Amino acid sequence: MQDVKSLPDHAARIGAYLQEARARGTVRGKSGKTIEFGKTPIRAAQDQTLIDAIVQERPERTLETGFAYGFSTLLFCKSMLENGTQAPQHVAIDPFQSGDVFDSAGLIACEEAGVSDMLEFYHEGSQYVLPRLIKDERSFDLIFIDGGHLFELAFMDILFSISLIRPGGLILVDDMWMPSVRAAVDYAVKNLGLIHENAVAAKPLGLLRRARNMQRSPQEQTAFLRRPVELPKRNWDHFVPFDHAW
Ligand SMILES: C[S@@+](CC[C@H](N)C(=O)[O-])C[C@H]1O[C@@H](n2cnc3c(N)ncnc32)[C@H](O)[C@@H]1O
Repeated sequence: MQDVKSLPDHAARIGAYLQEARARGTVRGKSGKTIEFGKTPIRAAQDQTLIDAIVQERPERTLETGFAYGFSTLLFCKSMLENGTQAPQHVAIDPFQSGDVFDSAGLIACEEAGVSDMLEFYHEGSQYVLPRLIKDERSFDLIFIDGGHLFELAFMDILFSISLIRPGGLILVDDMWMPSVRAAVDYAVKNLGLIHENAVAAKPLGLLRRARNMQRSPQEQTAFLRRPVELPKRNWDHFVPFDHAW
């Protein structure tokens, strides 16, 4: 357990590391190469969405699918320390961390920022890890879904997360501008009882807007899905049609 006085120092160290990396626009890979990060790490507005959710929910155990350069993991650890959480625990899952693209840069970043002790990392697809965590009866206060963005991967992440999030806990789903992700969220809301706290009317993104990857409201970017304390009872043939496939 950390000395309470050192929590703000530790958070400041992580914050300084993040700021430097963002200013540089590069991270270091395990092979020694310098990696310029493009669109993959979440941007400032998305950072704020995550920070706000962590401040509001005050989680102690968090999980994310999709680790990339470790930026969202660093934000989770920093914000939990800033909340005064004594022994934050964060699980991150990504099968491609040691591959050519990421070259273990996220794990190196976590080591350099001093969060390795808080991190439990799985170098596998979330579709294989999450069922094991369910079997081990693990439970989380806040889950961030930002891994595989194919419909079936987003769908499985949400489905398994319903068993991993504590009753009343929050699941955040990133990249709601993608039809595949919206469809997975729509299924979970209409059929599995998740409550979409920041839903907005569906609004197709024009090709130009999509191509420019711009002008998204926070609602278009990240869905806040609350797991009710009691999940709805469903008949064997229950099915509500869903469609956000634009
Ligand atoms: C958008 S990036 C994540 C960005 C990261 N959350 C951040 O904010 O810095 C998506 C990540 O999902 C990972 N990914 C792809 N398929 C996955 C899967 N089946 N399970 C977990 N992660 C996956 C990719 O390797 C990539 O690192």
